[in-house]
Amino acid sequence: MPVSNPIILAIESSCDETSAAVLIGTVVKSNIIATQKIHEKYGGVVPELASRAHQQNIVPVVQQAISEANISMEDIDVVACTQGPGLMGALQVGVSYSKSLSMALGVPLVLVNHMQSHVLAHFISREQEGEASQKPEFPFLCLTVSGGHTQIVLVNSPTEMKVVGSTIDDAAGEAFDKASKVLGLEYPGGPQIDRISKNGNPAKYSFSMPVTPELTYSFSGLKTSLLYLVRDEKIKNPDFVTENLEDICASYQATIVKYLLKKFSLALNKYQPKSIALAGGVSANSLLRSEFRNLAIDKGVSCFIPPIEFTTDNAAMIGATAFFLFEKKQFSELSDPPIARLSID
Ligand code: KG4
Ligand code: ZN
Repeated sequence: MPVSNPIILAIESSCDETSAAVLIGTVVKSNIIATQKIHEKYGGVVPELASRAHQQNIVPVVQQAISEANISMEDIDVVACTQGPGLMGALQVGVSYSKSLSMALGVPLVLVNHMQSHVLAHFISREQEGEASQKPEFPFLCLTVSGGHTQIVLVNSPTEMKVVGSTIDDAAGEAFDKASKVLGLEYPGGPQIDRISKNGNPAKYSFSMPVTPELTYSFSGLKTSLLYLVRDEKIKNPDFVTENLEDICASYQATIVKYLLKKFSLALNKYQPKSIALAGGVSANSLLRSEFRNLAIDKGVSCFIPPIEFTTDNAAMIGATAFFLFEKKQFSELSDPPIARLSID
C-alpha cells in the first residue's frame, strides 16, 4: 500500500438495489445488481422493506461479485460504499457492512457520494475495451436524472462538481413513476412508459411545459395535469386509459424529455462546455438518449451517454468514484456516518 491500480470492492445500497462490484482501477471485473422486487406490489419503495432486503442480499451479492471477478477477499485493497444521499436504513446496511469488512481486512474504507458516482459512471472501463475507451474531457456539463434527483452539474474534475441547476420539487424519475401509478402501470414507471411509448403518438395530448426560473426544474405539475386529463376523460369514456395508453405515455414522455433538454440547453449556452454527458436511471430512457445526441450535434459538442447497465443504480459507479478518491488518499474514518441528504458540492 498504496498501490496504483487497487482492487476495489464497491457496495451500493442507497435505495432498492443491492449491488456489489469489483474493479481493478476503473476497469470493472464484476457488477452484481439485486433489484428488490418486493416494492412492486406497493407501487413505490417501502424504506423498511428495502433495509430488510439489503440485509438479506448483501452477503450473497458480495460473494457473487468476488467470485465472478475471480479474486478472493484477501486480494481486496480498498472497500468502497455509498455514504448518501439515499434512504437512511438502506444506507446503514451497506455502510456498516463495508466498515466491518475494511476493519477485518485491514484495508482503507472510501465512502462516496451516490450522485457524484452517477456522473463518474462515464469513467468506468469495461474489460474488453480496457482504459482506452473515450471519456469526457473536463470541464463538462452533465444532466443527471434519477428517481430522487434532477441536476445540471458542472464537472470540473472527478472530485470537483457544482450543481448549477436542479428541481424545486419532484425529480424526473418521480414524474415517470407517479404517472405510471395514475395509469395503473407497475413500479418503476420509467421503463414501462418508455416501452409503451414506442408505439404511441407523442403529439396526441398536450401537457403544458412547467414554467420555472432559469436553470430550475419542477415536475410535480406535470403529474397533476396527467391526473386531470385522466379524470376528465374517464367521465366521458371509462376505458380512456386502456384505449389510449400508448399515446398518453408517448405524449407525457415527450414533454418530460423536451423540458429536460430545454433547460439543459440554457445551461449549455451559459457554460459553453466542449462535452456534455447524461447520467442517472432516467438516462436509460430511449427518447432522452436520442434527443440528447441530437442536441449535442446541434450544438457541436461531444456527447457521452452511459451504457444502459451503468445508468440505474450499480456498484461499479461507486467503485470508479472510489478510485479517484483513493488516488487522492481521501479515505474515510470508521466513525463516518451514512448521510441521507448529502450534496455533491
Ligand atoms: O438512478 P436510479 O436507478 O435511482 C436513483 O438514484 O433514484 O433511478 C431510478 C429512476 C426511476 O425513477 C425509474 O423509473 C427511472 O430511473 N428509469 C427510467 C427508465 N429506466 C429507469 N425512466 C425513464 N425511462 C427509462 N427507460
Ligand atoms: Zn441513483
